[in-house]
Amino acid sequence: MRVLVIGSGAREHALLLGLRKDTCVDFLAVAPGNAGTSAVAEQHDVDVTSAEAVTALARKLVIDLVIIGPEVPLVLGVADAVRAAGIACFGPSKDAARIEGSKAFAKDVMAAAGVRTAGSETVDNPAHLDAALDRFGPATGQPAWVVKDDGLAAGKGVVVTADRDAARAHAASLLDSGHPVLLESFLDGPEVSLFCLVDGATVVPLLPAQDFKRVGDNDAGPNTGGMGAYSPLPWLTAEATAAMVSSVVEPVAAELVRRGSPFSGLLYAGLAMTSTGPAVVEFNCRFGDPETQAVLALLESPLGQLLHATSTGTLADFAALQWADGYAVTVVVAAENYPGRPRVGDVITGSEAAGVLHAGTARRNDGAVISSGGRVLSVVGTGTDLVAAREDAYRTVSSIRLPGSHFRTDIALAAAEGRITPA
Ligand code: GLY
Repeated sequence: MRVLVIGSGAREHALLLGLRKDTCVDFLAVAPGNAGTSAVAEQHDVDVTSAEAVTALARKLVIDLVIIGPEVPLVLGVADAVRAAGIACFGPSKDAARIEGSKAFAKDVMAAAGVRTAGSETVDNPAHLDAALDRFGPATGQPAWVVKDDGLAAGKGVVVTADRDAARAHAASLLDSGHPVLLESFLDGPEVSLFCLVDGATVVPLLPAQDFKRVGDNDAGPNTGGMGAYSPLPWLTAEATAAMVSSVVEPVAAELVRRGSPFSGLLYAGLAMTSTGPAVVEFNCRFGDPETQAVLALLESPLGQLLHATSTGTLADFAALQWADGYAVTVVVAAENYPGRPRVGDVITGSEAAGVLHAGTARRNDGAVISSGGRVLSVVGTGTDLVAAREDAYRTVSSIRLPGSHFRTDIALAAAEGRITPA
């Protein structure tokens, strides 16, 4: 099978390494990729938001399966164009990708499917903002305001704050730039990232994971695209995971079928384990980053065949998924100033070590690997328990040099110490 992966992050590097292990995959290409993926796949520099460019590349390379990693091409309909060209594609249609592309659409689908989620209100007129803020947050006895960009924001459109001025300023700046704002009630409890392969109505969950969205230890500082993750979750029972699949993901998949926009690809449910049961924080229409790097480190089933079965509507016939025993932990090494405007162009050493996945990296003319984005590397460690997986990941992190870089030191720490209990 000849496979083309679209994207340039550590998620795509993890997908490529997983695909390389599948004996049915005999050719790998990536567009645009990064300095790390060039060792695994033929690299092509095309505009991945252009349906024409991606389809033309897939045709030229005689590709059997295109796997689209990031949400932007999906929301723009690139998967529709690839499928229309007669090539199997892992990733939802433009219509189904609205589950991530519009929070208002996702809320509507969840309401119709009877799925629990935070109460919310969409504000698109600045004149209505103050009254809406009065209906949420500390004004109503909640610990904080939750203010979200209605559209795509690379994980950075969310502000959760008990400071009304900060909540108002974030909402006002979104409205100023023409983005509707979603105000949500606050969901307490530990969060779960549940990735499910979906082909229409068939839903197959992967191992649950947890990510760390704030930039600093102990969840200090602003939100990021994700600073680390671990999988599986020792504090979550298999029964609780199965209940999330049956009460959240399957009803949403069925509702999308009912609306004539069946989902095909990876449906990512972000859930909070609240004191009154699981509730959806968000849906995404693709593999999450950095959770994928941990989840795929444990997958033993053949990834290429699995994603091809999802893309061709034969997931129900696929054998039960096989997983390695133990745990995986991912630690993100970020550039100076991330999640603000990152410093780029610094030379990185140690990035060729086992377990190091590349994201914001590029190769200079002299061959040196340099930083080119905010989240630069994802370092994956594995072990028989979370303590060992953390040690493995942080040992590798300590061997990497990137001036000004930073990483969280507490990824998976609370879970390793048994300090997480679902309410
Ligand atoms: N880990 C968060 C995301 O992928 O959106």
